[in-house]
Amino acid sequence: MRRFIVIGQRAAASGDFLLHDLPGTSGRLDVLLRCLRAALLVSHGVRRDTTAYLVLLGGTRAPRALRVEGSIAEYLRPDERSLANLVRKALATAPSGPEFAAIRHGLAIADGGLDSVLADLRHATPYVLEEGAADVREQPLDTAAPAFFVGDDLGFDEVTRNRLRGVGAKPLSVGPMSLHAEDAIAIVSNEVDRRRAATG
Ligand SMILES: C[S@@+](CC[C@H](N)C(=O)[O-])C[C@H]1O[C@@H](n2cnc3c(N)ncnc32)[C@H](O)[C@@H]1O
Repeated sequence: MRRFIVIGQRAAASGDFLLHDLPGTSGRLDVLLRCLRAALLVSHGVRRDTTAYLVLLGGTRAPRALRVEGSIAEYLRPDERSLANLVRKALATAPSGPEFAAIRHGLAIADGGLDSVLADLRHATPYVLEEGAADVREQPLDTAAPAFFVGDDLGFDEVTRNRLRGVGAKPLSVGPMSLHAEDAIAIVSNEVDRRRAATG
């Protein structure tokens, strides 16, 4: 099982954004939706071995976190508008507490931020994707149960960085350029694919 956790520093934790103006009205939830696509969807299918979390730290209902499990998720489509609709419906649900509560097949929500996700990760090995860190290609990687933390367009705030350091998340880079978050996800996922293929 591989996991991706995307931290949206100001991403809307309530559904009151406009589908036709996501970047302008949702605290850049559009960035997180592209990450969801990159983490979970491949050509004509879903990565059944992947779970993605969106941590939503913006607006009056924050913090909240969404969990999408590729193993059982249904009706995941690659276009941003469909994913935004899915997330908006999930955000319309009543408060459920800090543990993840299922909304529908493969989709769950928690009224908590990073701590709710960390409590859900159990035996995963945490990594934080950071520009300027050690290159993933030259580092050992737990390909069986990695959990990759990814920043939004603003990167990580200091509180999150310290919390991730506190749980021993190892910083990794995916190359010398500062990339869009979804591209960093695609590259590190490809690295996991390659290493798994090489070891059978
Ligand atoms: C657009 S970047 C954030 C840029 C932001 N200005 C900053 O200084 O952090 C979004 C996220 O993608 C990931 N990322 C981007 N480029 C990366 C790289 N070369 N290696 C590892 N992660 C990267 C990081 O998690 C980053 O927080």
